[in-house]
Order: sequence, then C-alpha cells, then structure tokens
Amino acid sequence: MEDLGRADWQDPKRVACMIESYRHRYGAAFWTALRDMIGASPRMCVVDLGCGPGLFLVDAARLLGANTLYGIDASREMLGQAQEFLETLSPDVSFRLICHDLDQGDPPLGTENADLVFSGFLLHELERPERVLLFARCLLKPGGVCAAMDYVSGDEAAFVDAMTHSGMAEEQARKRYPHMCKRSVDDIMHLFEEAGLRRISACRLGNYRAVVIGVKVFK
Ligand SMILES: C[S@@+](CC[C@H](N)C(=O)[O-])C[C@H]1O[C@@H](n2cnc3c(N)ncnc32)[C@H](O)[C@@H]1O
Repeated sequence: MEDLGRADWQDPKRVACMIESYRHRYGAAFWTALRDMIGASPRMCVVDLGCGPGLFLVDAARLLGANTLYGIDASREMLGQAQEFLETLSPDVSFRLICHDLDQGDPPLGTENADLVFSGFLLHELERPERVLLFARCLLKPGGVCAAMDYVSGDEAAFVDAMTHSGMAEEQARKRYPHMCKRSVDDIMHLFEEAGLRRISACRLGNYRAVVIGVKVFK
C-alpha cells in the first residue's frame, strides 16, 4: 500500500509531475498574493526549503530581484533537476543546492543572511514543521520574511476538484486529503507564531491552499 505520509520524492515521475504542475500551482494568483503580502522591495537572498525542481527559485530571481539563491531538499533527483533549471534559466544568479532531510536537523547554512525564506507544499510533509520554521527564522536577516504556501483543511470538495483538474484520480485525491490538508490556515499561522515570527498574515487561494507570511522583527 502506498505510504501517503511519506511520498517517494526520488521517483523521476514525481519530479516530472512537480515540473508539469508548477505553472498551475504557482500561477498569477500566487504571485499577486505573495507580492502584496511581502511588499515590493527586492529580496536579494532567497532560501527555498523543499525546493523540489527549483522553479520557484528561478522565478524568485526573475520576479523578486534575487541574486543569491539557496535550495534545500532531501531528494537528489529533485536537486539534479533544480541544478539544470538554475544553470540554464538563471545563468547570472549565484546559487547553492543542499541535499538535506530537514526532519533530521538543520543543514549548514549561515544565519541572518536571507531576505526571504520560502517553502512550497512542504509543511504538511514534515514531521516537526515547528522546528523547521525556527530554522527558517534563524536564516532570516532582521526584517526578513518567512513565507509558506500549503494545502489547508476545511473544503475537501475544493481540494478534490483542484487535484482532479490537475490529473489526479478522484479516489486518490480523497485518500490524500487528510495528509495534504492536515492543517487549517489558523494552524499554520500558529506554527509561525510559535517559531517567533511576527506580523503574521494569510491569504487563501481557492479555498484549498493558502499563503502565510511572518516577519523576523528587529530585537
Ligand atoms: C510537494 S514537493 C514541492 C516542491 C516545490 N516546493 C514545489 O512546490 O514545486 C515537496 C518537496 O519537499 C521535499 N521534502 C519532503 N520532505 C522533506 C524533508 N524532510 N526535508 C527536505 N525536503 C523534503 C521533497 O523532496 C519535495 O521536493
């Protein structure tokens, strides 16, 4: 039986699926929400936790003005693809990719350097997301922003509808709902609060996912 709690992110089919679905998952609604929430100033140094095939990092260079990118992911397959995309699509940007399981502790990375630490569809995968958000806060400069997009609970029909439109079988979408939508927007905001992030806000996208941000405030 498939382990819905721990997907096989090394599987080349999963990598291909993340690439194919990227434009759908990170469309105009996402970018408008993120930019409205974090403001217009450029985010020079961006870290993506669970970066997958690296397409958010490519867009962070293009749309947020980032010139230094870090991608962390536990899957070598995903990082191989990220390397290829970043080399070809963002040739003028400095980047570093780190293979690391975030449930096993913090990877070696300088603290207080990042303007934005992002994670897309990662929080529901983690055993201890609150610990990873604490790490995200350590990476941020004072005034830097932590942002996460994830699926949220509350509207199973909207989730199933969105998944079936992107090619998933209805039965599988229903089976995955408890795992992928295990938290409400309030639950995610509470995780941000517990990690010491402040000025927390959220924007729902289509009733089955949300973007949450929090700021590392000056001491
Ligand atoms: C749903 S995919 C999202 C990928 C990318 N953020 C995107 O939205 O296209 C989740 C990613 O998180 C990574 N991941 C899952 N658990 C992880 C962990 N414990 N540590 C590091 N990466 C993890 C997977 O390898 C996968 O690339």
